[in-house]
Amino acid sequence: MTREEALNSVRENVENQNTVKHMLATEAIMRALSKRFGEDEEELGLAGLLHDIDVELTEGDMSSHGKLGADLVREMGASEAVCRAILAHNETLGVPRESMLDKALFCADPLTGLITAAALVRPDKKLGSVEPKSVRKRFKEKSFAAGASRENISSCSELGLELDEFMELGLKAMQGIAGDLGL
Ligand SMILES: [Fe+2]
Repeated sequence: MTREEALNSVRENVENQNTVKHMLATEAIMRALSKRFGEDEEELGLAGLLHDIDVELTEGDMSSHGKLGADLVREMGASEAVCRAILAHNETLGVPRESMLDKALFCADPLTGLITAAALVRPDKKLGSVEPKSVRKRFKEKSFAAGASRENISSCSELGLELDEFMELGLKAMQGIAGDLGL
């Protein structure tokens, strides 16, 4: 599956443009993680780009979110490793994180929300004016972007990655696609 095919399929299945942007942001962080760890960039990128493809189809039903997505992307030709990471990203399903890919997707997913919120409180609402230190500060404010699970973000430790390095890597990755994110 090419990236273009994946993105087309995302656009077919997801109407909410903020969700599409969230998936693009997750893709960017996954690509950055692949470079950091010398892993397959295309495969990690695809997992990030596709991971919430079923979010509107499942209508918030957490017992099927990820399951339907994995089935969909398997049919489209995604690798088993990508399908597995999509299953494991929804903890409700009880699929343990085993591979680097599983672990990377699990921590990258919530980081996008924290960084997006950190940009939106800047006067210009731009990612370019967010400093790594302000992301670190916002991380510690539990009520700030409360939906971005601090526990899940902190699971970057499963990759052997320090939290500060992970947040800086995520910020740079999202700044690199700021235009696509409209931030
Ligand atoms: Fe997500």
